[in-house]
Amino acid sequence: MGRHLQIELEDVYFRYEDTPALNGISLKVYEGETIGLKGDNGSGKSTLLRLLNGLVFPDSGRYLLGGNEINGKAMRDELFAKSVHTKIGYVFQNSDTQLFCGSVREEVEFGPRQMGLSDEEVWRRTEDVLKMLDLEKIQNRPPYHLSGGEKKKTALASVLSMNPDILMLDEPMNGLDKKTVEWLTGFMSLWKKAGKTLIVATHDENLLYETADKVIELHEGKII
Ligand SMILES: Nc1ncnc2c1ncn2[C@@H]1O[C@H](COP(=O)(O)OP(=O)(O)OP(=O)(O)O)[C@@H](O)[C@H]1O
Ligand SMILES: [Mg+2]
Repeated sequence: MGRHLQIELEDVYFRYEDTPALNGISLKVYEGETIGLKGDNGSGKSTLLRLLNGLVFPDSGRYLLGGNEINGKAMRDELFAKSVHTKIGYVFQNSDTQLFCGSVREEVEFGPRQMGLSDEEVWRRTEDVLKMLDLEKIQNRPPYHLSGGEKKKTALASVLSMNPDILMLDEPMNGLDKKTVEWLTGFMSLWKKAGKTLIVATHDENLLYETADKVIELHEGKII
């Protein structure tokens, strides 16, 4: 594992209108690390992941990704924003807000197409990921006709087809059956072995302590 500093937060504050959500977060993540995020409901885990994915920006403090500052101004540059979204794969806590295409297959194809890959490469990646997640049989179904677990798997598939460097999962095991939980646990250790970075927010203590190199606990938007 290279000790390459990949993510750095310096005293980051963020609030939603009248709700403070992140209150002075400083954090360093090195390439290849697996970080577990825990904390009570409302402690700021999902907000922290949103910020790390460039969906919201610090009100004060700084966020550096690979040495580049991520803020509203930087993300208005379409190419830069695209590079950030290609680098980080993010599976939302709520799959309904993540899925928007007409079918499972289109969800999986969307990212690779956006990346400008050839039709052949898009097809290859889509086939691989559909097979890997056992989604072939439901590939033509619209996402709103799926079960909760199937939606989660589709969201994960749509992220994995982009082959990101960093994976961020928000409560990934929610709603998944035993077989899929086992698959995802195995997948996370392969991800780690491949030297890729993983940040997982979860209430699942087993997942935290078996998979993570480091566990970070949030309380009222602060690391404790
Ligand atoms: N879109 C939003 N608008 C306003 N306030 C929000 C929004 N999303 C979250 N909050 C508030 O921000 C704080 C942090 O919420 P967040 O979703 O980050 O917590 P969490 O740790 O992910 O919780 P959970 O374990 O329930 O998923 C909470 O006080 C929450 O009510
Ligand atoms: Mg959350």
